[in-house]
Amino acid sequence: MENKNVQNTDTERRKRVFSAIKPTGNPTLGNYLGAMQYWPQMADEYDCLYAVADLHAITVAIEPKELRENSKRLFALLIAMGIDPEKNILFMQSHVGAHSELCWLLNNYTMFGEASRMTQFKDKSKKAPDNINVGLFDYPVLMAADILLYQADVVPVGDDQLQHVELCRTIANRFNNRYSPTFTVPVGKTPKYGARIFSLSDPTAKMGKSDGAGDGSVFLLDPPEVIMRKFKRAVTDCDTKVKASKDKAGITNLLTIYAALNNTTVESAEREFENADYATFKARVGEAAVERLRPIRERYEALRRDEGALCEIMNAGAEKAARIAKRTLDKVYKKIGFVRI
Ligand code: TRP
Repeated sequence: MENKNVQNTDTERRKRVFSAIKPTGNPTLGNYLGAMQYWPQMADEYDCLYAVADLHAITVAIEPKELRENSKRLFALLIAMGIDPEKNILFMQSHVGAHSELCWLLNNYTMFGEASRMTQFKDKSKKAPDNINVGLFDYPVLMAADILLYQADVVPVGDDQLQHVELCRTIANRFNNRYSPTFTVPVGKTPKYGARIFSLSDPTAKMGKSDGAGDGSVFLLDPPEVIMRKFKRAVTDCDTKVKASKDKAGITNLLTIYAALNNTTVESAEREFENADYATFKARVGEAAVERLRPIRERYEALRRDEGALCEIMNAGAEKAARIAKRTLDKVYKKIGFVRI
């Protein structure tokens, strides 16, 4: 018989979660319902690390002032939406140097062809043909470094990031096979409900973080009257039934949003609005969003009033993250054959 007590140290380590979000644009209800809202509750089951992926934000042109403000805003928002910095490791990616270091090392175990096949790279290249920089190409390798540094088991992401997690697995397996088991090979996990939220003004396009002036995106920090206005103006169709279907993209999107806000299914939302007209339905979705976002905005505003306290939280998070990251990074340097001092 095996001695259980001896095994315990390793097998009973709680599984680890890592995820990150870029401080580009303004976080939307789509980001929240599609991914972020599930982050706080994961601490019940996992040891969680969450980062503001500021290093990833410079792969597309961004003003220094904007990067700085976006990063602070997102960091505070993550706390405001429920990520307790005492129960999770919350940090700014650029505060832990190991991310850039491991990225360079992993570049040498990533094939040019593999990185070339990334859909997001191809899309972004098309959108900004005059700024197809090497960082944009390298983006998924930095992402792999983020994940692998912490030996994460699970990576909660929106479905547009699954291909990047797949590449991360390929890199991890290649390194493990070339040397010896070094990295935990992670799995990507998309949420059950509301994985894809579309624009309210063009329900065939993703709800974007940079839809500045338009009414297509609901931002997490929008005041209630703005949220209501955006929902009331949401594009629908000339039918009258609140029912999800392929040719009713607008209504389907609103049903998805409503279901995600109430942690229920689209089918049960359909039943709830069986006899409702579009105007009533849209107002009800708006109200649900307002109520969900109100406490988040209030907590956010309180956090932003004390910049010093926010800095301290960043500092503490970076220290905890760096300690774990260093262990992995040291191992990687050693295995490759670098002389260590
Ligand atoms: N690329 C991710 C996105 O755009 C953000 C990200 C950066 C990330 N590093 C990560 C997500 C590591 C998961 C794990 O949403």
